[in-house]
Amino acid sequence: MRSTSTLRPTNPTKHRAITLAMIGFATFTTLALAHEGATGVVKERMELMKRQQSDMKLIGDMAKGKTPFDAAKAALAASDVATTAKKIQDLFPQGSDGHPSDALPAIWKEWDRFTGNAKELETSADALGAVLAQGANDGWKPAFQKLTDSCKACHENYRAKDNGHEHH
Ligand code: HEC
Repeated sequence: MRSTSTLRPTNPTKHRAITLAMIGFATFTTLALAHEGATGVVKERMELMKRQQSDMKLIGDMAKGKTPFDAAKAALAASDVATTAKKIQDLFPQGSDGHPSDALPAIWKEWDRFTGNAKELETSADALGAVLAQGANDGWKPAFQKLTDSCKACHENYRAKDNGHEHH
């Protein structure tokens, strides 16, 4: 093995720049992880939940009047929540709790209730979508509130309350 022949001493400035770039990349990828160390299905479900969180923020900002109400955009976000809600149950295989996950063991003890919560999320996201399809009307905010409650209902029972994280 004479691999050293390919490792010519590089220009030190260039080398330093590459090292800095690599550190920058490492920092970026670490921040991009939902939770440091999360991999596989745990990482996948954290990313799914983050995506739902940003859907909810988009609609929530409209509800608060922070951004102008746009029924079509809100409906798209609601439909994304409904679509992703369908995937929740497959992302919680038995035994996938424990660090760095916040998933509680109760999920597998009360599997039917847990999947029922996921179904309820889907139903309330669809209901919001249906109201939004009718354009601007008084019904959309209560429907959005109901959707928010569906997130909370599941988190209350099945997600550990860790420190330093905003819980919705
Ligand atoms: C069926 C149960 C259930 C429903 C419904 C649900 N979640 Fe979650 N959520 C969880 C569980 C369990 C975790 C913890 C996952 C883990 O750490 O492995 C979690 C974690 C999260 C996280 C943290 C992700 C991370 O980076 O660690 C966010 C954000 C989140 N949920 C947002 C939402 C939003 C927004 C909704 C509603 C649109 C929602 N969730 C609906 C069960 C649910």
